Amino acid sequence: MIEFRHMQKTFGTSTVLKDINATVNEGDSIAIIGPSGTGKSTLMRCLNFLDPPTGGQIFVDGEEITAPGCNINKMRQKMGMVFQSYNLFNHMTVIENIMYAPVKLLGLSRQEAYDRGIALLRQVGLAERALKYPSSLSGGQKQRVAIARTLAMDPEIILFDEPTSALDPTMVGEVEAVIEDLAKSGKTMMIVTHEMRLAKKVSNRVFYMDEGIIYEDGSTEQVFDNPVKDKTRRFVRRLKVLELFVDSRDYDFVGAITDIEQYCFKNRIPDKLCYGIRSVIEELCIAILLPVIPEPKINIVTEYSEKHQSAYITVSYPGSYRPGNTDDRLALQLIDVFSSYQSYDYDEKTGMSTVKIKIFTK
Ligand SMILES: Nc1ncnc2c1ncn2[C@@H]1O[C@H](COP(=O)(O)OP(=O)(O)OP(=O)(O)O)[C@@H](O)[C@H]1O
Ligand SMILES: [Mg+2]
Repeated sequence: MIEFRHMQKTFGTSTVLKDINATVNEGDSIAIIGPSGTGKSTLMRCLNFLDPPTGGQIFVDGEEITAPGCNINKMRQKMGMVFQSYNLFNHMTVIENIMYAPVKLLGLSRQEAYDRGIALLRQVGLAERALKYPSSLSGGQKQRVAIARTLAMDPEIILFDEPTSALDPTMVGEVEAVIEDLAKSGKTMMIVTHEMRLAKKVSNRVFYMDEGIIYEDGSTEQVFDNPVKDKTRRFVRRLKVLELFVDSRDYDFVGAITDIEQYCFKNRIPDKLCYGIRSVIEELCIAILLPVIPEPKINIVTEYSEKHQSAYITVSYPGSYRPGNTDDRLALQLIDVFSSYQSYDYDEKTGMSTVKIKIFTK
């Protein structure tokens, strides 16, 4: 349906996209992930010609849109775009926002556009807001209206650029649900996102972008669970892993709790397990180790396994202090409550201790 052949994009002297080659099939829902600045948004913008490519070719339904003389407006109608900021017209009601382009560009009658608009609002759960103005809606509702407005043009493919990143965390779910429904209905989509939860939920394929190319292209399970290339593996691992470094006896543990909670939210870690992670880190690192180790340098790595519904915490610190030797029996008991496995190792060569704990809650 869409094919990129050696597509390039250069801004002045910097080449952001070096050599993009990929085929998007009908019904594909592709999550585009990768570090910041690797050209994910640029790829979307090249595809719908908001920023025309500077080399190579793009084909849509067999027609080369990069060919001179191609009717780009006609091709653009095949692609709907949903941005991070909703870009609704604030002086129009919700339904007018949705009716505007179909009446203007597709030549629908107002009645037809209205009927279809209401049906689409129903699909995104907002039919009763049709006559309201955008200013009275929450961010999540605005984004759902923006999706309905895009669908009103009946595009063949929808391009999302970080559709949930401007939202308050409490509203991410409602927008995710709408995008998930679209994916299930077989809509062809490309979704740029930093939310791995969204990527996993809505995609059947993933493009990992790096070094100006689509560095890895595979099924969602493969890219997340078994990436072929090193850089992809590191990127994916970093998202799954939470690293904390305690470097002062007055460590800001309150701030760390926020990091732990955000990590749990992003990885959809159940509340009970999240509480276990927090408690073990607090008891082991802050209550037991921090006061007694020779230098305040504790490295804490938490890795969650969705498959096993458990988390692994690895703590390393200087010296040979064994947490089991502490007088703080209560802290030890609390750690026991949340863990199903514990080990302790001292490496004489490096002078470092390592504690491994598996957190498991029924
Ligand atoms: N109009 C422009 N003029 C010059 N440089 C640009 C322009 N648009 C993007 N760039 C550069 O291209 C590179 C890729 O930008 P892009 O926004 O596509 O990255 P991204 O992968 O979407 O990043 P993020 O994850 O932060 O959104 C960046 O270095 C950016 O500065
Ligand atoms: Mg971007």
